[in-house]
Amino acid sequence: MNAVDLSGRVAVVTGGAQGIGLAVARRLLSSGASVAIWDIDQAAMTSALAELEPLGRVEAFTCDQSQIEAVDRAAIETERALGPVDLLVNNAGIAGPAATVVDYDPAAWRQIVDIDLNGVFYCCRRLVPGMIARNYGRIVNVASVAGKEGNPNAAAYSAAKAGVLALTKSLGKELASHDIAVNALTPSPARTRIL
Ligand SMILES: NC(=O)c1ccc[n+]([C@@H]2O[C@H](COP(=O)([O-])OP(=O)(O)OC[C@H]3O[C@@H](n4cnc5c(N)ncnc54)[C@H](O)[C@@H]3O)[C@@H](O)[C@H]2O)c1
Repeated sequence: MNAVDLSGRVAVVTGGAQGIGLAVARRLLSSGASVAIWDIDQAAMTSALAELEPLGRVEAFTCDQSQIEAVDRAAIETERALGPVDLLVNNAGIAGPAATVVDYDPAAWRQIVDIDLNGVFYCCRRLVPGMIARNYGRIVNVASVAGKEGNPNAAAYSAAKAGVLALTKSLGKELASHDIAVNALTPSPARTRIL
């Protein structure tokens, strides 16, 4: 296994209670970082904490990332518990219903964009200023191959993930003069609850 020494670093993993985010949290802890999981699934957070606590310093905070106030509150709680945030993994997301564009429920469309795209913006806008002040940060946005290709019957998800890719590129350019890297991943299907 390749290893990066993240001792002394503080990481936030949104949607870290299960699936890809839980695997990321596990790996960050194994590399020495302290980790804060932000999620909405209380039961999954409880079992994630039980699994992760033997690996290092980990906290879990309830945070619906589609709510700007919830993100600001989770950031304050994280900074109080673990210190300033160096690493942000914007991983939380939902797929939403499968339907064609003409049949898509507008309320479902708005919810997907609120969580999958606007939530990433809310987390970045809250945590990037501290990274700039300390001239260090690493941000990884979990998008999807759907954002590159546009999946049929998943236009809301695809459009939100395409937005995440554009946000990643814009923010990366804005921060290019700092030691802050902004990258995105575009996974193809993995067997998690979202499917
Ligand atoms: N699994 C795949 O095939 C696949 C493929 C491409 C991209 N992705 C992306 O990977 C990321 C992780 O997905 P996963 O497969 O691990 O799914 P998952 O459903 O196992 O995990 C997603 C987590 O996000 C949390 N979450 C949902 N809404 C939230 C909200 N409003 N605020 C905070 N947390 C919230 C859930 O409670 C859950 O713990 C997502 O962004 C997803 O779009 C997954």
